[in-house]
Amino acid sequence: MSGAASAVAATTPALAIRTMIRSWWTKSARSRPAAWARAISSWSPAPARFRSASKAFAVGKVRVSTSVPTAVGVARLPDSVDFAEGAALGLAGAAALGAVDAAGPGAGTTVLVAGATGGVGTQAVQLAATGGAVVIATASTDEERELVTSLGAAETVDYRGDVAAAVRATRPDGVDVVLHFAGDPVGLLPAVRSGGRFVSTLIGSPDQVPGDGLTVVPISAAADAGTLDRIASSHVSGATRVAVQQVYALEQAASALADFGRGTLGKLVVTTD
Ligand SMILES: NC(=O)c1ccc[n+]([C@@H]2O[C@H](COP(=O)([O-])OP(=O)(O)OC[C@H]3O[C@@H](n4cnc5c(N)ncnc54)[C@H](OP(=O)(O)O)[C@@H]3O)[C@@H](O)[C@H]2O)c1
Repeated sequence: MSGAASAVAATTPALAIRTMIRSWWTKSARSRPAAWARAISSWSPAPARFRSASKAFAVGKVRVSTSVPTAVGVARLPDSVDFAEGAALGLAGAAALGAVDAAGPGAGTTVLVAGATGGVGTQAVQLAATGGAVVIATASTDEERELVTSLGAAETVDYRGDVAAAVRATRPDGVDVVLHFAGDPVGLLPAVRSGGRFVSTLIGSPDQVPGDGLTVVPISAAADAGTLDRIASSHVSGATRVAVQQVYALEQAASALADFGRGTLGKLVVTTD
């Protein structure tokens, strides 16, 4: 059996890595929160949709052993998607898809993506741009600006400054939607036009931000099989891509943690091969 687990797939990525490593090293905790992709040798009972599938990916508490609970939401990983990409896709893709679905950015909609350079943000930029939205993406270096522009962002804004003020400078009425994946939510609210939407993976309830006159939508990634299938299809069609910055063997996990601490531009993946 071969497989890979995304190292930046949980709410506190570094902690998630440590949790996974501890789980693997001690073999005491047989399940951990992670995004993963691996070969499946058999199913019991075998769901009809997986009869011929040998590759799968999922998000959630999955067993490291040969037993995989399909209840967590398992989807077939297309043959053309390798395990590292599959592991990197699940959680970030599900959060991004949930956010973009909730925002419903149609053609011409203006969307500010705060945290555009991260795992969720890079997927959301692509999904919104593919849907015809005009995407303004946060970035702070030339490398980051290049990345988000290559993913479909029409404009960038430096998140080290006042993002909302920068947006209002060119769009006095504000943008239709803010997709919030990083930064202070309260500081970003003025970027949204009156009646617009503020969609966030960082808040648990609308009343956590003073969004008077706005629709505030908290997102909790729902990585069910249908969502994972959509993510895989989008990836295979080329509508979205995932940037895997580096793949580490399990024994290199400490290096993965150190590299993550220094900042990344793309996903770090730890393999269990
Ligand atoms: N609710 C859910 O179900 C759910 C699911 C997935 C993720 N999440 C959460 O969603 C957030 C994003 O996840 P992720 O995986 O995309 O994280 P990530 O990969 O760490 O990305 C965060 C990105 O935001 C950038 N950034 C840092 N400070 C910023 C600021 N003030 N303004 C704009 N961008 C800034 C970072 O750039 P630098 O590298 O330059 O610092 C990084 O590229 C995390 O907080 C995560 O916990 C929630």
